[in-house]
Amino acid sequence: MLHPTLRLFGSCTLAFSAMVMQHALAHDGDDHAHSVRQVKPAEMYEPTPMPDRIVLTWAGDPTTTQSVTWRTSTEVASAKAELAIATAGPELRNAAKAFDAATVALKTDLNTAHFHSVTFQDLTPGTKYAYRVGDGTNWSEWFHFSTAKVEQEPFSFIYFGDAQNDIRSMWSRVIREAYSDAPKAKFLLHAGDLINTAQSDAEWGEWFGAGHWLNAMIPNVPVAGNHEQHKVNETKRQLTHHWRPQFTLPEHGPEGLEESCYTFEYQNTCFVILNSNTKIKEQAEWLDNVLSKNTKPWIVCSFHHPIFSTAKDRDNPLVRAAWKPILDKYNVDLVLQGHDHSYGRTGLDTPSEDVNTVANVPTGVTARDEHHGTVYVVSVSGPKMYNLTPKPFMVRVAEDTQLYQVIHIDGMELRYEARTATGEIYDAFVLEKTIGEPNRLTEAKDLMAQRLRATKDSVPAVPITIPAGSSPVPGR
Ligand SMILES: [Fe+2]
Repeated sequence: MLHPTLRLFGSCTLAFSAMVMQHALAHDGDDHAHSVRQVKPAEMYEPTPMPDRIVLTWAGDPTTTQSVTWRTSTEVASAKAELAIATAGPELRNAAKAFDAATVALKTDLNTAHFHSVTFQDLTPGTKYAYRVGDGTNWSEWFHFSTAKVEQEPFSFIYFGDAQNDIRSMWSRVIREAYSDAPKAKFLLHAGDLINTAQSDAEWGEWFGAGHWLNAMIPNVPVAGNHEQHKVNETKRQLTHHWRPQFTLPEHGPEGLEESCYTFEYQNTCFVILNSNTKIKEQAEWLDNVLSKNTKPWIVCSFHHPIFSTAKDRDNPLVRAAWKPILDKYNVDLVLQGHDHSYGRTGLDTPSEDVNTVANVPTGVTARDEHHGTVYVVSVSGPKMYNLTPKPFMVRVAEDTQLYQVIHIDGMELRYEARTATGEIYDAFVLEKTIGEPNRLTEAKDLMAQRLRATKDSVPAVPITIPAGSSPVPGR
């Protein structure tokens, strides 16, 4: 509709009209600034009887189980899920079976809500199911998920470094770009610091809002970062009270680390998720035990604090000393990490676990271990960026770049792609596995120029060298 001020001056010259328009808009803007109230988090993230924050995870075997967790207001005391094999027509509704949910109350800084969870069991492998969650009166829409196949098939998953800050504003585009890139990905792995303030319900609301219905269709694999640790007092931190009510995860980790230290198998790959915030030695023993029983050819580990930091003064010697010997012992293929808010990816050969060796690598690394062949990645998906001080054995690095990774495993081949928030391939390599031998790594060629800050301070303190056995990446 034409602005009333402009109607009044309808016969004026164009230039004058434009002037009036400017004035009118500025005036309107002022009015709006005074008249439009800011929506407060307590209102924006208020739970209602309608399910929200619906998220798939695995507490059990991805071939036969699927867990789902959701939130409602406390009005919903008794919740349930319905499940049917997905059909092309609406008849799935007639065949749906109901499952009672387990319900817990969570008092947060904004409200008290109920979190409900169901683990569907005894599912048929390689099958597409439809489900909805609710209370009999208010229901979610029907969502689809698929169980993993028992027989071998190629699969992809998506990995995100820290989302953490401005999640609604600036991270939502990354998860959505990733989904549009790999819509058939089997799960979304978040390597810690999903949010910034451990017990801020608004931040968790932003995180669930960014993934929204993707979370209800594609299982999530969350890793606990330091920002998921709530400060109880000066000496004590503990996992946020949001974590266990809102994610349904395995409880088979060491005591006290239920649902933050866990393992699962997907196809021909063993995934191990560790909690690098605490009980490092206990997890070393647990990791050794898990990997000693592994029968899968590929092993992918994820935890938050990197074995090899991409930043100055952010070294994690305790984690490295405790865990790297075990990663080496079992020839772990890929380690996915976060924490440093930049990007750094190694080749196959990295220094031994010796802390001093790693700490003193001014011109080269003499204690490289070329037999274990683990690739270590640090990445960031959110907008918070730190200065980069890469290790000399990092093949590809980035500053000021929001990234996500699509990782594809097809039999004895693993293809890795890091993409920018705008979907461009930033880094890529292929690992080929021959049982009993170190992996063979082939670097992608013709990648875009590395994204590094053009300031004097950000020039890497240590020149980047190409590790032996890796192909040079053009444009580095
Ligand atoms: Fe972080």
